Amino acid sequence: MEDLIGKILNTAKSEISSAASLKSLNDVRVGFLGRNGEFTAVMKNLRGVPPEERPLAGKRVNDAKDIIERLISERERALADEELRQKIAAETLDVTLPGKRTEYGSLHPVTLIINEISDIFTGLGFDVADGPEIETDKYNFEMLNIPKDHPARDMQDTFYITDDIILRTQTSSMQIRTMLAQKPPIRVINPGKVYRADFDSSHSPMFHQIEGLVVDRNITLCDLLGLLGEFAKKLISKDAQVRFRPSYFPFTEPSVEADVTCSECGGRGCQLCKHTGWMEILGAGIVNPKVLENCGIDSGEYSALAFGMGIERIALARFGISDMRVIFENDKRFLRNYR
Ligand code: PHE
Repeated sequence: MEDLIGKILNTAKSEISSAASLKSLNDVRVGFLGRNGEFTAVMKNLRGVPPEERPLAGKRVNDAKDIIERLISERERALADEELRQKIAAETLDVTLPGKRTEYGSLHPVTLIINEISDIFTGLGFDVADGPEIETDKYNFEMLNIPKDHPARDMQDTFYITDDIILRTQTSSMQIRTMLAQKPPIRVINPGKVYRADFDSSHSPMFHQIEGLVVDRNITLCDLLGLLGEFAKKLISKDAQVRFRPSYFPFTEPSVEADVTCSECGGRGCQLCKHTGWMEILGAGIVNPKVLENCGIDSGEYSALAFGMGIERIALARFGISDMRVIFENDKRFLRNYR
């Protein structure tokens, strides 16, 4: 009996100390102390022990059970501590590790210029309004005094959807939409996309314009010159100037091409301005009275000025880009430079 208890105690000790997890320790517990465990078997054996030795033998069994229970709970605590330690170790946050870089998006160079120009004109009391890119022939051409057979249509290679519906070739269609919707006085600019069937290093089939329109009493070419002069100073530098060259648009009379001082050389002449000192960025003029009348505005009482400029031309100059096409390829390595 003594031998048996001693043997069980020894195997229990070694199994307990080698149990590597709480789960296997529990298996050990069941193996020794459970209902079908080794000690239950020993208890049954007690019946075969002579009666006078039984109390002592019973005590030996109980002592051994106590020892095993104590060893198990000690081991249990050690294993629980160890598991916790490992869990904490696995969860450690190494604050010295380099962080994961978040990629930030940025505004497109064309958007940057549109925002900048919109800011300048809102500062001068203008509203900013958007309009449809799919436009009627009527608003893009006819009401702007460009009838169907007018040679001026050849200046703009139009994308036709149907005979009457097109992709707008110019933001000037917004002059019509604005004047049909609002009564004078009007001061508005309309930035947006326009489309022409043209594609090379200085033309893209889709590009951006900003249209400007002022309708009020006594608007003259002097107002146009003053307004664009103010704009050039804000866009380029305080010394920048504007010059007018006579031009022709069916919807303005008189019409001008407005050049502004070259932003690169300040007017001295450089490669960007082809050594002229000027950048050709605007078409403008006094709105043809016919156009006002088309929109139900009395041309005897009101007059209007209008201008339209290409955004890409300004963006190319501002950012020193030579090929229009890269602006629309949206290669991130290119765009990253214009934050
Ligand atoms: N719409 C003209 C163009 O695209 C520019 C312009 C706008 C001219 C307004 C005069 C007045 O060339």
